[in-house]
Amino acid sequence: METVLSGIRSTGNLHLGNYFGAVRNFVKMQNTHQCYFFIADFHSLTTHPNPASLHENVKKVLSEYLAAGLDPEKATLYIQSDVPEIPELYLLLNMISYLGELEKTANFKEKVRQNPENVNAGLLTYPVLMAADILIHRAKKVPVGKDQEQHLEMTRNFAKRFNFLYKVEYFPEPEAFNFGEELIKVPGLDGTGKMGKSEGNGIYLIDSSDEIRKKVMKAVTDAGPTTQNQEMPDAIKNLFSILRLVSQAETVKFFEEKYANCEIRYGDLKKQLAEDIIRFTSPIRERILQIYSDSEYLKKVVALGREKARASASKTLKEVREIIGFRGF
Ligand code: TYM
Repeated sequence: METVLSGIRSTGNLHLGNYFGAVRNFVKMQNTHQCYFFIADFHSLTTHPNPASLHENVKKVLSEYLAAGLDPEKATLYIQSDVPEIPELYLLLNMISYLGELEKTANFKEKVRQNPENVNAGLLTYPVLMAADILIHRAKKVPVGKDQEQHLEMTRNFAKRFNFLYKVEYFPEPEAFNFGEELIKVPGLDGTGKMGKSEGNGIYLIDSSDEIRKKVMKAVTDAGPTTQNQEMPDAIKNLFSILRLVSQAETVKFFEEKYANCEIRYGDLKKQLAEDIIRFTSPIRERILQIYSDSEYLKKVVALGREKARASASKTLKEVREIIGFRGF
């Protein structure tokens, strides 16, 4: 069985971008692949969360993963900081990653722009830690959204470089994966780029119906089309992109035709979109609340995941140490 791995930062709740970009695929793959899914809490340290909020966020994301359909009996579901083999592999990979390539990473450049006063080494070497996450289980497929594509390319480079340096064929070259389709980018509703935690434009699985209605009704639109079959501006395209994810095909077609004939009323489109998002998220939200309050269950899930993840990770690390030349006496 092929090994699959993916993760989510514990920086906040899961939004529709995380769900449709990644988690939906995790759920589909857990029956047919050897799956490792984890919560990246080391990665969240780049923004210096306080201890209470760090713990709280991990608990929230874990409950959300489970509520979205991840089955801890089928997949290995674990917390990154429970697996000390990951930071050790990260240290080893740091020795074969170079300042020039790390500085060029799009995500790093973006973070430097957003937060010039907090350009820490953890941010710079973020892709190395990600590579360690993936290579520690020698995973081949990595279900992620479009924004992670470059990190996967870097992981392949580190894997190739390690194999070349030590003249082995040890690490596979992992690929970003979406069932043969293009990777997804779920847009925000503020007329700009992607939906994201740091962008502050997320619709979260945990949002109440009222919050969702408010967010959708505030979405950026324009004055409306004035000529038949006019090309949509980005803000309107974004609304339709989300509609396609949560609504029936007839609903999408109905509004597309209204747009093409210049008869669209954005208020109606937004109302429909909000109700369809709510229909989709509210059963998940109920499960989140229920799972979140079941501490005994969460404890069991975490312990089971830790054990399975460490079994695989320690095997890899032992072999890597042997390859590198840490052979003991
Ligand atoms: P994170 O927590 O930002 O996002 C988690 C997953 O959700 C996807 N995603 C999106 N997909 C489509 N549209 C969007 N608007 C959108 N926003 C987020 C991301 O592509 C990702 O798949 N560095 C990673 C976490 C990580 C990881 C790993 C992932 C750490 N180690 C190893 C895979 C393998 C991150 O910050 O994702």
